[in-house]
Amino acid sequence: MLKIAVFASGAGSNAQKLINYFRTHPSIKIELIVSNKSNAGVLQIARAEAIPTLVLDKEKFFHGNAYVAELSELGVGFIVLAGFLWKVPAALIRSFPNKIVNIHPALLPDYGGKGMYGDFVHESVIKAGDAESGITIHFVDDQYDHGPIIFQARCLVDKNDTAATLADKIHQLEHDNYPRVVEEVVNRSRYEL
Ligand code: GRF
Repeated sequence: MLKIAVFASGAGSNAQKLINYFRTHPSIKIELIVSNKSNAGVLQIARAEAIPTLVLDKEKFFHGNAYVAELSELGVGFIVLAGFLWKVPAALIRSFPNKIVNIHPALLPDYGGKGMYGDFVHESVIKAGDAESGITIHFVDDQYDHGPIIFQARCLVDKNDTAATLADKIHQLEHDNYPRVVEEVVNRSRYEL
């Protein structure tokens, strides 16, 4: 079994889709749900699914061992970020080379970087008058929303779209694609050192 830890800060709809997709998977398991917020919706999902949870301590995450020891003890081999708002520390990236992926609710390299999350992204896309937006799944490196792109999918932005209606379209794209793309990347990563 390849064990995945899902890191999330919010409601966790993507985490739920990942849990559903891998629930009966023969070789990939969601082992742990990690959050930086003790009241995040994603933790309730984890409890309902009887998946162990971990709430990160800021000091330990950024200035301690970045939870490398705890994750290896649990046998975690891959990390999936699903709406996780803290920057991933270098120590964790070093321990999981090409084994951390993120999903971003826009077509990177546009609309990425610090502070570009949730409705801030969608509002910027609408303000710029872009005809389309989409999602980007990418490897995580030491800069926000920056690592090599694995997959993108697009949707149209209508002139009547608001941040909320665009967010709905983006969520749909995320839910339809993230679990399958994670599965592919995890399977590929098994053959890499
Ligand atoms: C998603 O749109 C994801 O792209 C982003 O944060 C949102 C998380 O939504 N970075 P949810 O918590 O999975 O519902």
